[in-house]
Amino acid sequence: MNTIYFDSLSNDTVRRQQIYNGQLFVFSPRSSTIDLSQFVRNLVEKGFGSLDPTKAEYSLPVDEFLAIESDFKQTLMNHPHTKQMIQAVLKEFECDLSKTYFDLPQLRMAPTRGYLPNAEGLFHDPHRDTWYAAPMCLLNWWIPIYDLESERTVAFHPRYWNQPVNNDSSGFEKDYKTNFREAEFPHPEKQIEIEPEIRIVCPAGGLILFSGAQMHSAVPNTSGSTRLSLDFRTVHYDDIVTNSGATNIDSYSTVALLTDFMRGTDLAKFPEDVIATHQKNSVMENKRLLKRK
Ligand SMILES: [Fe+2]
Repeated sequence: MNTIYFDSLSNDTVRRQQIYNGQLFVFSPRSSTIDLSQFVRNLVEKGFGSLDPTKAEYSLPVDEFLAIESDFKQTLMNHPHTKQMIQAVLKEFECDLSKTYFDLPQLRMAPTRGYLPNAEGLFHDPHRDTWYAAPMCLLNWWIPIYDLESERTVAFHPRYWNQPVNNDSSGFEKDYKTNFREAEFPHPEKQIEIEPEIRIVCPAGGLILFSGAQMHSAVPNTSGSTRLSLDFRTVHYDDIVTNSGATNIDSYSTVALLTDFMRGTDLAKFPEDVIATHQKNSVMENKRLLKRK
């Protein structure tokens, strides 16, 4: 991991390979990402009424704030236009929609440090998305809804690209089966060295594209304003069937999830036999790694 590509012109095949090698991609706002971020912005601005969504935390009790956030998440995932807007993003970034599968976007609201009783939320601590039973070819498409600042953004922790971290991802299956959305997500079993870290700052509607194997976290928000962002994930059919992607150094899950992903062209799910083979191969590899832990 040594490069941040800015507005790269690489095609999707080259770009994916660079991402699997640990590189980061940052893009200026484009028409499809502006549409998507503006859609979410309209949603939250309508939902908060007269309050500025980035300042609403100062006027609302925590439970009310979290309830509103939960409503936004559901609305975004269930809205008929959401999938179309994701398809438009993938098209604009020249992905092959017949082979690119995506999941539904998640809205994240990261208020200022100290507002939430458990200040380190589910997705705030350093983690790899691949710990959550995801394929090693997972890509994370991360889009800010309002302009980022160094004090309210996502951070990457490059020392861990090649360095395994003991974690409890081997127990994820049990939690996931109970309730995936509310599951206790895997976390490191020892303190992560935050420094050195790379904080990306780009405008609203920009895009940060990175491997699900990147160690990343939400920076402790000391900006005075809530961070709002959305992210969705993609996997490429060829990379699933050839077991390609980032190198697995510490994902131990005993379940491999592909069921959330929909094909870019017609929203079809992965065929059952592909899911079964992926599950078998991934879990075999994860268990082999776990033995060496
Ligand atoms: Fe994440």
